[in-house]
Amino acid sequence: MSDLESVFCRTPPWRWFARRVVVPRVLSGGIGPRVLEIGCGSGAMAAEVLRGHPEVIRYVASDVDPAMVRLAAAQLAEFGDRAEARQVDAAGLPFDDATFDTVCSWLMLHHTIEWEQVLADAVRVLKPDGSLVGYDLPDSRLGRAVHVLTRSRVRMIDREDLERELLALGLVDVVVAPLGLAGAFRFSGRRA
Ligand SMILES: C[S@@+](CC[C@H](N)C(=O)[O-])C[C@H]1O[C@@H](n2cnc3c(N)ncnc32)[C@H](O)[C@@H]1O
Repeated sequence: MSDLESVFCRTPPWRWFARRVVVPRVLSGGIGPRVLEIGCGSGAMAAEVLRGHPEVIRYVASDVDPAMVRLAAAQLAEFGDRAEARQVDAAGLPFDDATFDTVCSWLMLHHTIEWEQVLADAVRVLKPDGSLVGYDLPDSRLGRAVHVLTRSRVRMIDREDLERELLALGLVDVVVAPLGLAGAFRFSGRRA
């Protein structure tokens, strides 16, 4: 993530967006109790989920960037044993199969380049009946311009390609639908 994105993801408007838009719209189907977030950035989304969902007893907020992990650890300290920040590459998760009830991917898939592999590993660590949930941005001129300006390395994701991949991974109840803001889309699927 570029420095500009990194700073923006720690601002009050971002926290407002997480609390008012993302968490209620993406998590309307429920969450937890054991949650893994991949690409947690500063931990802004994790903090909002933990605040709004007391049923979450363990939330592992993970990111490949050690600087982000340090920020997330500081942000999540108030939640004590309920939260942990870890440096983890989402393309090779160091967790056993069937460990988590929910895996969250908030606006991070397009940063991973090999996002098919990331999705496969996310599904692997889900317990049967567990859910993968998240949101991302479509390929657009504006999005491309922002990423060029911020010098971010990305591979944007087509909604149809994402839906096809989630189904190919064996998920059921797959939904890929508009988030209702700026062309973003939410997605979810359940491990049978
Ligand atoms: C746009 S930020 C989103 C951060 C956070 N999810 C949020 O919504 O505030 C994308 C994050 O994905 C992380 N990331 C990119 N590739 C990753 C990978 N392969 N594994 C884990 N994290 C990754 C970046 O370091 C960055 O913190």
